[in-house]
Amino acid sequence: MGRVLLAAPRGYCAGVERAIVTVEEALRRFGPPVYVRKQIVHNTYVVDDLTRRGAVFVEELDEVPEGSLVVFSAHGVSPAVKDEAGLRGLRTIDATCPLVTKVHKEATRLAEAGYEIVLIGHAEHEEVEGTVGEAPDRIHVVDPATPGEVTASGSGRVSWLSQTTLAVDETMAAVASLRERFPNLVDPPSDDICYASQNRQEAVTRIAPQCELVIVVGSANSSNSQRLVEVARHAGADAAYLVDRAADADERWLDGVETVGVSSGASVPEGLVQALLDWLADRGFADVEPVTLTEETLTFSLPLELRSARNPR
Ligand code: F3S
Repeated sequence: MGRVLLAAPRGYCAGVERAIVTVEEALRRFGPPVYVRKQIVHNTYVVDDLTRRGAVFVEELDEVPEGSLVVFSAHGVSPAVKDEAGLRGLRTIDATCPLVTKVHKEATRLAEAGYEIVLIGHAEHEEVEGTVGEAPDRIHVVDPATPGEVTASGSGRVSWLSQTTLAVDETMAAVASLRERFPNLVDPPSDDICYASQNRQEAVTRIAPQCELVIVVGSANSSNSQRLVEVARHAGADAAYLVDRAADADERWLDGVETVGVSSGASVPEGLVQALLDWLADRGFADVEPVTLTEETLTFSLPLELRSARNPR
């Protein structure tokens, strides 16, 4: 008989909750179809569920018929995308997480002040693409794992920002490396890694040393979920895996295991975690011990377009 350490906080953050409610509310008020540029949040279950209810997910705005309603995802968009929506006469609702918007504003402010900006993050991630779009000539993206590959010239003032969902330790190591290269590197007023990413990482760091196995529920394209798997390994779990849902877990992972750690990414509905707990219980891991790092109470109000106008613009 094994036991399960269930990390908390886990699952939905305030930005994801807001983004999903935004699409639900848009469907309720305006009726389907509601177009959504990119996955509203990086979770296949959430996207499939909203699709069944009338949301239409597209990669780019040219797939949206003129005059239609389109929601921008939690990861944010570049100003060019907003301009394109305006040119095509699309009605828009912006579900960008306010903590991502904060990074956009900081990028704009630093660029206007003449800084070169090193953006630590994954270049192919939608959030990073959106932030870069605020000042493409001034922002240099560098992967947190390879800060030595930074392309900034350093001829003037240099500052740094980061993607909101990175691993805290890896990011701080990247900043230290950047500071060796640019001794006058200017820190932003506050870190960009969001409270939800930090809390989930710290909770996993607390349980991982006691676990032979950690299972994180989350989709493969979810940055914060991927980081939880890495953090679990670094913190001492013998093995850590990411599963989209319980059916993806493998019984062989449980061989010789006494304690399993469980967590979930910020875009994961709690029902998927409960399904994994049922799967574990069926295999002798019915003793579930919650390990709570902190309680989260943050909520964000809905996008302005849903708070005021009857017809969003
Ligand atoms: Fe926002 Fe962080 Fe969630 S940036 S969408 S609160 S993971």
